[in-house]
Amino acid sequence: MKITIGSDHGAVELKDEVKKVLAEFDDVEVKDVGTFDTTSVDYPDIAEKVCADVVSGESERGIVLCGTGIGISIAANKIHGIRCALCNDVYSARMSREHNDANVLAMGGRVIGFGPAGEIVRVWITTDFVGERHERRVNKIMALEK
Ligand code: RB5
Repeated sequence: MKITIGSDHGAVELKDEVKKVLAEFDDVEVKDVGTFDTTSVDYPDIAEKVCADVVSGESERGIVLCGTGIGISIAANKIHGIRCALCNDVYSARMSREHNDANVLAMGGRVIGFGPAGEIVRVWITTDFVGERHERRVNKIMALEK
């Protein structure tokens, strides 16, 4: 699985930690679109870069990070084809995959510790969409884009 990851200046350290977690998985390839230091950048620009890869199919999934995770998740969900879930706990991360088929995960670098964030990432990348009745609902979400 290829994953594109990006953060604004509010989550550069969390991005490095998430990349360490992703490196635990032999079948995960990571593309990092920045930012790479704490110079202020605008999170919608990062969301756009990560989500472009997901929409084009270059990456199967995306991970977007900012200070709270809120701004970058709102931005990501404006992009057609993206189902971005802001998760601060493992249960939400699991459900975002099983029920919502989330293709982008958002977290906040000023909200969540590295330990919980790592567990969220592990669960999020290893949990499959269950389909069935949830497929109908996800299809209705995507129809709202039209
Ligand atoms: C940047 O200071 C901050 O606003 C951003 O990282 C994020 O928290 C916005 O939602």
